[in-house]
Formats: sequence, C-alpha cells, structure tokens
Amino acid sequence: MKMVSSLFTIIFIVILSLLLPSPWVYGSSKMNPFGDSKKYEGSSEFVKLRYHMGPVLTSNITVHIIWYGTWNRNQKKIIRDFINSLSDTTVPHPSISGWWRTVQLYTDQTGSNISKSVILGEEKNDRLYSHGKSLSRLSLQGVIKSAITASTRPLAINPRSGVYLLLTAEDVYVEDFCTSVCGFHYFTFPSLVGYTLPYAWVGNSGKLCPGYCAYPFAMPSYSTKMKALKSPNGDVGVDGMISVIGHEMAELATNPLANAWYAGEDPTFPVEIADLCEGIYGTGGGGSYTGQLLDATDGATYNMNGIRRRFLLQWVWSHVLNYCTGPNALNP
Ligand SMILES: *[C@@H]1O[C@H](CO)[C@@H](O)[C@H](O)[C@H]1NC(C)=O
Ligand SMILES: *[C@@H]1O[C@H](CO)[C@@H](O)[C@H](O)[C@H]1NC(C)=O
Repeated sequence: MKMVSSLFTIIFIVILSLLLPSPWVYGSSKMNPFGDSKKYEGSSEFVKLRYHMGPVLTSNITVHIIWYGTWNRNQKKIIRDFINSLSDTTVPHPSISGWWRTVQLYTDQTGSNISKSVILGEEKNDRLYSHGKSLSRLSLQGVIKSAITASTRPLAINPRSGVYLLLTAEDVYVEDFCTSVCGFHYFTFPSLVGYTLPYAWVGNSGKLCPGYCAYPFAMPSYSTKMKALKSPNGDVGVDGMISVIGHEMAELATNPLANAWYAGEDPTFPVEIADLCEGIYGTGGGGSYTGQLLDATDGATYNMNGIRRRFLLQWVWSHVLNYCTGPNALNP
C-alpha cells in the first residue's frame, strides 16, 4: 500500500514536471559542468539584479590613487595605463573602453547613465607604511584620511565624482586578504574620515597569494596539473591586480554607497555586477574555465587592449542582455 502510494507520488511528480516550465533544468544545462555555482555565464533565470534607488557615478569619474608601501615605476605605469584606458575609445577592439560600455548601461532614478569618462586624478605615495604592514578594514580608512589631510600635497576631496583607489604593496597584509578577498570597495565613514567617499582597496598578491588573487597567472598550490598562463605585462602580481581593480571600479560606479545596483536580499553581503561574473574572461567561461582568451605573439595571454598594452580583465553582468559580457565575446 505504501509502495503503491509512493509510486503514485513519483508518477505524479514526473507528470507535473513535464507540464511545468523547469528553470532548474534550463539553468543547469547552460551552466558549466565543472560547476562552481557562483558562475553564471548564461543563467539569467537565477539572477535578480535590482536597483535600490541609491546614487550611481553619473558625473565624470576621477580616480585618486594611494600607493601604500613600496611600488616601482613600472608597476605604477601598468596601473595608470589601465585606468586611462577605461575611457580611451581610440584603442583597437576588443578594448578596455568597450568593456566599460557595459558598465555605462546602468542608470540612476533619473535615467542618467554611468559616466563614460574616467580620469586619473591625483596620486599620493604612502612610502613609509603610515599604518603598518598589517591593516584592518578600518585602518584602510585611516590611510585614506592621512592622504586627504596630509600637510604636503593632500589628495583632492570630491565626494560626488571622486573615487579613491588604495593599493597596497606585496608585503602588506590586509584583513581577509588571500583567504576570502583580493580587494573590496566601500565608502568612508564621516566619523572617521570626515566625508563619505567611495573607495576601493586592492592588494598586490605577488608574494602572499598569487595562486588565489593573480589566477590564472599563478596556480593555486593544490593544483598540480594546470600550468600558469604568461601575464601580459611581465608582473604577475600587478597583472593579477588589474582584473580586481576593474571588478571594483565597475562596482564602485554602479553601487558606490551600497544602495544602488546589486542582487540578493542582504545589503551587507550584496552580489554586485562583477561578482556575478568572477572568473569569466571570455566566451564559454565559468567554473574553472576562463573562457576563450587571446594569445599575444610573445606567448602572453590577454583578452582586451588598452593604451600601450594588453590586459586580462574579467567580464561584468549586463542587465540588458541578462548575462556576463565583455568586448571579446564571440557572439555579442
Ligand atoms: C567630463 O569629461 C569630458 C571628457 O573628458 C569633458 O569634455 C567635460 O568637460 C567633463 N565635464 C565636467 C563637468 O567636468
Ligand atoms: C544608458 O542606459 C540605457 C539603459 O540601460 C541604455 O539603453 C543606453 O544605451 C545607455 N546609454 C549609454 C550612452 O550608454
């Protein structure tokens, strides 16, 4: 009797599942079989990215850089070239500015788009590690405060369109660095810094954890089979930072005060437009596969052109297409 009823239940469920549209089957068939469930190349069914009415960066974005610790000239050049590439539309396709076009698709309440123009602003060197070599999330705000209140050449304060990029050298540890984050963005607290300023921190992982934060230019220690790819600018730590800086820039622009564009119900753990595409750099990407990339003649791997150089930069979510995209997509 029991047997019969459960058999009946099974038949009933099978019939029901044939009648109802089944997003689970649709979604999983499009997802990568190696399956990290955080990757969503084509699974629009599951992504509920919503606008929460807060501001986005609609006026010319000025990026002020704080170089914390020891940085060499070449490292600074690579990162400056990347920032300047974000709005340089003269660079050949597939370009960094082409990538930024997806970010520009996001708007605020008034229908204003994110700014096309991203300008490199002022720079501040914190060569002597003013807050030490091990920083908490709050002490990062202390570093920003020191930079905007310095007695010589303080960084400009423009809360409306300025973003602050705090970059820590490879001998600096930051809370949660290498275990769960490679960078993050937030805004400063008026009680600590005097202003509400959107900022991002990104660490150079070259010494501490390149296999975690500079993948695929270094491999995690548990991975013995896969070979690291050659980085396009000859600096594994900094080439790895580029994708993280891009990730944070896209999210700073679309969610500067953590109340604009994100998915998920919990604003303290928002899933933002670059989180949705982490690890995806080209068509077919997801799981442990980067997607289709490009090979330079010197054997380096990249996916986009910038000013004077090439970069590997993760894709971002398009709320218009409902999937992750980038300028090097094979089927845009
Ligand atoms: C914004 O940037 C563009 C191009 O760089 C420039 O022409 C324009 O004057 C800037 N606007 C403001 C308000 O600064
Ligand atoms: C502004 O955003 C809208 C909505 O996403 C989009 O249709 C339009 O193309 C965007 N404009 C620019 C200049 O990116």
